[in-house]
Amino acid sequence: MANNTLTITDNRTGKKYDVPIEEGGVIRAMDLRQIKTGADDFGLMTYDPSFGNTASCRSRVTYIDGDKGILRYRGYPIEELAEKSNYLETAYLIVKGELPDQAHYDRWKHNITIHTMVHENIKMFMEGFRYDSHPMGMLLSTVGALSTFYPDASAIHDLESRRLQTRRLIGKIPTLAAFAFRHTRGLPYVYPDNDLSYTGNLLAMLFKMTELTYKPNPVLERALDVLFILHADHEQNCSTNAMRAVGSSQPDPYACASAAISALYGPLHGGANEAAIRMLMEIGSVSAIPALIKKVKEGERRLMGFGHRVYKNYDPRAKILKHFAEQVFEVTGRNPLIDIAVELERIALQDDYFISHKLYPNVDFYSGIIYQAMGFPMTMFPVLFAIPRTSGWMAQWAEMVRDPEQKIARPRQVYIGESTRHYTPIQSRPKPTQHEDAVSEAI
Ligand code: CMC
Repeated sequence: MANNTLTITDNRTGKKYDVPIEEGGVIRAMDLRQIKTGADDFGLMTYDPSFGNTASCRSRVTYIDGDKGILRYRGYPIEELAEKSNYLETAYLIVKGELPDQAHYDRWKHNITIHTMVHENIKMFMEGFRYDSHPMGMLLSTVGALSTFYPDASAIHDLESRRLQTRRLIGKIPTLAAFAFRHTRGLPYVYPDNDLSYTGNLLAMLFKMTELTYKPNPVLERALDVLFILHADHEQNCSTNAMRAVGSSQPDPYACASAAISALYGPLHGGANEAAIRMLMEIGSVSAIPALIKKVKEGERRLMGFGHRVYKNYDPRAKILKHFAEQVFEVTGRNPLIDIAVELERIALQDDYFISHKLYPNVDFYSGIIYQAMGFPMTMFPVLFAIPRTSGWMAQWAEMVRDPEQKIARPRQVYIGESTRHYTPIQSRPKPTQHEDAVSEAI
């Protein structure tokens, strides 16, 4: 018998099955289907709510070793990229698979930069939002709206079309994000300045007032660039899974990216940095930390910016940001929340609850403190996550489109509802109290 197989004995029938083990530790769920009690039996399937132990794809983009705290894009350690690369170069790496030479980098930069403008109708679209709309809601809507501006994007099996949409979306998303921000402030939208860097232009579109040309602070421009590198991809997280799942029914990538932004919006994903800042503000002082820790341990609440589905060690991105924060504070002044955060981390990492649950700070624990010091309102934090994640989403989407093994994403379920019942006239249905009990749990 081959070594790389798994032998399963079905104790219901006494039958044995050999199932191949691939990629050093993966079995195909469909190989379980042959395990049946009889001809009418559907066959075994796995139950894995939230995909805790199920690989949904084979990917070459990002590697994470959660136990060791390792993150690599296309094989390159995140620490090296954060130190030596810039966001646009990293986006090229993620999308194309290799670091560019100078000529390819220059062309890529040019191709992204010429797509920074948006159709004037987008401005009118933006005007329709209320003044206090969350910028993430505006972003997901306007990215979805791009689908109506570029009907050619539906040619998803055409390589040139995929390339064009990728450049368009990476180019336009800072503009849409900045328009959303300016809308909430009642400020006129600022058009892109293509003489600036990717992040310098974003800062200009966000913060330019009456000056003729906006000169971004180089430290803050670089800080944003590093934050963007750290957020560019993170393999099969919730929003990337949304991008792939929606993409599997083959709509254009703007519709998929809108779904991915929606997934990112939630407080357990891209909204966690906002939730982490709110939590730090609520704690208010170092002396109040033990009371919060107690509540967390009693299960009353979660420590936001802590824990991760994959990392059971320090998130390497959080490590980089913790050090980077100090450089930013030299320009912006110290954000006092950093002292609460550092002390909270120190106390938590000595506590049995956090040790035994393997809960460490994740990227969202420190990113919000930096964003806040740079003058961003909390509602912009997830938007600042979505901008760089666009390159990861597009790379993962293109990988999915080209993968011959991928089909429409359509999970199975374990049905636990009623078996067949027959319709009864309204007068003869159960008494109100019984009825109330039955429906009170439903939405
Ligand atoms: N605070 C306190 N306890 C926690 C936390 C936390 N932040 N996270 C997990 N736990 C506990 C949880 O109560 C459970 O305990 P028990 O086994 O005793 O019931 C155990 O750890 C496992 O939790 P889980 O919910 O099954 O873990 P998960 O892998 O499904 O959740 C997570 C991962 C990120 C959603 C979760 O850790 C969390 O809610 N963290 C806070 C929100 C956050 O910071 N999210 C950002 C994630 S990183 C960036 C991103 O993806 O956007």
